[in-house]
Amino acid sequence: MSYTVPKLTNYSAAALENAAAKCIRACADDAAAVRNEAELKAFRDRWIGRKNGVLTQINDLWLKGAPKDAKREAGIRVNEVKARIQELVEGARVGGDESVSAPAERVDISLPGVRRPIGAEHPVIKTTNEMVRVFQKLGYSVADGPVVETDYYNFEALNFPPNHPARDTQDTLFIAGQQAKPQRERLLLRTHTSPVQIRTMEKMRPPIRIVIPGTVHRNDPPDASHSPMFHQIEGLAVDTNITFGDLKGTLDHAMKEFFGSSVKTSFRPSFFPFTEPSAEMFVSCFICGGSGKRGTDNAPCRPCKQTGWIEILGCGMVDPNVFEFVKDNGYDPRKVSGFAFGMGADRIALLKYGVDDLQLFFNGDVRFLQQFA
Ligand code: DAH
Repeated sequence: MSYTVPKLTNYSAAALENAAAKCIRACADDAAAVRNEAELKAFRDRWIGRKNGVLTQINDLWLKGAPKDAKREAGIRVNEVKARIQELVEGARVGGDESVSAPAERVDISLPGVRRPIGAEHPVIKTTNEMVRVFQKLGYSVADGPVVETDYYNFEALNFPPNHPARDTQDTLFIAGQQAKPQRERLLLRTHTSPVQIRTMEKMRPPIRIVIPGTVHRNDPPDASHSPMFHQIEGLAVDTNITFGDLKGTLDHAMKEFFGSSVKTSFRPSFFPFTEPSAEMFVSCFICGGSGKRGTDNAPCRPCKQTGWIEILGCGMVDPNVFEFVKDNGYDPRKVSGFAFGMGADRIALLKYGVDDLQLFFNGDVRFLQQFA
């Protein structure tokens, strides 16, 4: 602390070395003596403070003051001192700089190492992967597409005409500032994975069989069964002579693979703009076995609301109007037909794991997620 930068009169190598060593030693002693935050700050100011720190003084007194023929040597020394002092200042800690005074061997190699918890597949991703696997075994390939989508792919090419009321069912989140663009180019967060049907048909000629897992967004406030972000798994099969029988057979097989061979499927009429006819598919409740009652005391089964059936997905035969948008790539609606389906991965994961609050999937609480490891 009492160190002052000496003026050098002797610029011999030995004298420079001596002066540099003294300076570094003083800095190390000073660093080791730091006891609190205020002292640490004072220490830093004293050594590297811009105005009158030791480094600045060394520059002035040793370098600028050096005779011409000693400048080079002095410069090298001063740079060394600077680098070392910089290190000492950066390494200084309240309580003294241990690296200066600590004994060399401080590591107890008999102590156990730091345990890093290994991660686990998130239950929604796990469910998605299992479902995708079922379709891959049937020869389906996996496709994906952008989450920020245009109005064209999310709506228009899926046979939702502009201003059609079916758009209202999708609670769309729009990207701001798109008004200047033509409607079909305006950006939004895709409300379903169905736009990837069109994107894939634009790229691949028939026949195709694809599954499309992905995140989607809707303007729904979060609660136990809703989230503005959730996950879907979409499917599409197009070939010649695909019938509703193929749709039923494929989905019935897939549900038995996924939920167990005892589940039954039931198809009920519905409406989607991009399929005709459309249906909702239910599976017999895999929790109560379809009875609507649970346990020996016949408690009401909540997941199926005592109906014995759980709605799993929407599906249907691809509407010819949809093929019109990709006709030029081999999808002539007079020649090909297909079926499509879409399901919510989060809902299936909720049912599968008996979780009663969707938010638990997205809060990131490790204690919840660990249970699936
Ligand atoms: N996209 C629909 C939705 O999010 C789900 C759906 C229904 C997808 C029928 C399909 C389908 O491919 O054929 O509500």
